[in-house]
Amino acid sequence: MELYLDTANLEEIREIAAWGVLSGVTTNPTLLAKAFLDRGVKPTGEDLRAHLRAICEAVGGPVSAEVTALEAPAMVEEGRRLAAIHPHIVVKLPTTEEGLKACKALSFEGIRVNMTLIFSANQALLAARAGAAYVSPFLGRVDDISWDGGELLREIVEMIAVQDLPVKVIAASIRHPRHVTEAALLGADIATLPHAVFKALLKHPLTDIGLKRFTEDWEKVKP
Ligand code: E4P
Repeated sequence: MELYLDTANLEEIREIAAWGVLSGVTTNPTLLAKAFLDRGVKPTGEDLRAHLRAICEAVGGPVSAEVTALEAPAMVEEGRRLAAIHPHIVVKLPTTEEGLKACKALSFEGIRVNMTLIFSANQALLAARAGAAYVSPFLGRVDDISWDGGELLREIVEMIAVQDLPVKVIAASIRHPRHVTEAALLGADIATLPHAVFKALLKHPLTDIGLKRFTEDWEKVKP
């Protein structure tokens, strides 16, 4: 399973990319707004494009950028403009009627689409039929409403395998390290993680204690 960062914060992306384990990035309008608001900046169109370009260069892999239009013709226009920013851009579309129409049109033009806000296996099936390259089921938001995000992911992964659909599953809305293990065991192609969850994957108190002891013991004899 590949690991993506779910952020639009360039420092976070550069930090994790340096670990050598980062395959891609997903953004959404909330994450992009946060990246600018945190710096007290109201971006121009060119600022946004430059920011997305910098993310693409930092990660060297697929970067999902979401359209904000709600009608298919405008989604297609916006999707084309996003895709023109950098070859790594994957256009992210909401799983709605308009989103499906736009997905069909953009994927027909060879533009890769990530269908987002997926909360059922049937939505994933529709997205795949419309030519999506990726589907993003939201585990955490399903858990938030007392349902089972893992079960949603299991159904989608199994359906795609049984039907042999040419679409990759991105486990999204990841909230904690257990979600990552669960997504990997269930066969997700990709999991997209917030920065804090990425850091938490690595942390273990026994690793810290063990390293401290190795270092101290070696200090006693080191030449
Ligand atoms: C997916 O690509 C989305 O950006 C994302 O994972 C949203 O998750 P949230 O529930 O943490 O907002």
